[in-house]
Amino acid sequence: MIPAAYPDLASLVQAQLAIFPEHESYLSTRFRNAAPRDLAFANELAAMIKTIAGQHLSHFCADYRWLAEVIIEEEIFFRREGRYRLSTFAEADAQVYSNEPYMRRYVNGILLSQLWWANHTSVMQYFRDTYLPGLPAGARHLEIGPGHGLYLYMAAREPRLASVAGWDVSPASIAVTTATFKALGYPGRIDLALVNLFDAPGGQFDSITLSEVLEHVEEPDQALRAIARLLAPGGRAFINVPVNSPAPDHIILFRTPEAVFDTIREAGFDIEATHLAPISGATLERARKLALTISATAIARKR
Ligand SMILES: C[S@@+](CC[C@H](N)C(=O)[O-])C[C@H]1O[C@@H](n2cnc3c(N)ncnc32)[C@H](O)[C@@H]1O
Repeated sequence: MIPAAYPDLASLVQAQLAIFPEHESYLSTRFRNAAPRDLAFANELAAMIKTIAGQHLSHFCADYRWLAEVIIEEEIFFRREGRYRLSTFAEADAQVYSNEPYMRRYVNGILLSQLWWANHTSVMQYFRDTYLPGLPAGARHLEIGPGHGLYLYMAAREPRLASVAGWDVSPASIAVTTATFKALGYPGRIDLALVNLFDAPGGQFDSITLSEVLEHVEEPDQALRAIARLLAPGGRAFINVPVNSPAPDHIILFRTPEAVFDTIREAGFDIEATHLAPISGATLERARKLALTISATAIARKR
């Protein structure tokens, strides 16, 4: 299924299929028409994921299988009811963020989804290849909601950044991000803290990542205003929000990428660039027509 030139990707596919054989037709479709550049990125991601998982790779693959089954249940609810199952942060906190064993499985599953879900891979590639190279030398970078930690790790290994910090509301996410940095052998200093973005301490940053977090908060406009307050004048944010994307902790439903981008502009940002990545196997046109998941990403500058 995977050309021999991408050995880490090929072996991770095999490890995943050993745990989740029913995923074979999905995974072969996922990579069938991938360009060499995309396969090279996927191979690099696979190598990182294998290193992070280490001897527990089969557990991580099992956690991904569990996540895929949970998402199908959420998808069925979404299709029947036209809304997400939860609507308050308190519910998501009790069921997911503060539920240590659940959250660990969930974050491990999301780590593998960075590779198995085309929209996730595409956004991460955009972050690495477009957003990070555009940051000024000496930038102070923060990620809110690093979860599995891969975005934060990619920022941390960018030598032009002066400092890197990560804030998350979930103790399990902080523990997983810490483990990711350790497994990948990151030698530098990284400030990780348990922080709800609405209670953010003062501090000025030149760059903030907010990826797959806005749909988790009750007041996305207030969250974006909090991000703007944390940014120095002219600072940039990488804001990634999946639309029509049911999950156990998603409480705010954005139905179109334009709704996301309008919310970002109304909170005091100019949008410099956007990137739209539809769910695996769908064109953008089809995803829009059928209200399938699209990752809507903006590079936004504080006005
Ligand atoms: C789906 S994960 C995103 C992981 C990663 N950024 C990505 O894009 O794949 C969402 C993360 O946001 C965190 N989160 C949710 N609400 C938050 C809040 N109000 N303040 C800080 N972190 C929050 C969760 O604990 C979780 O680790």
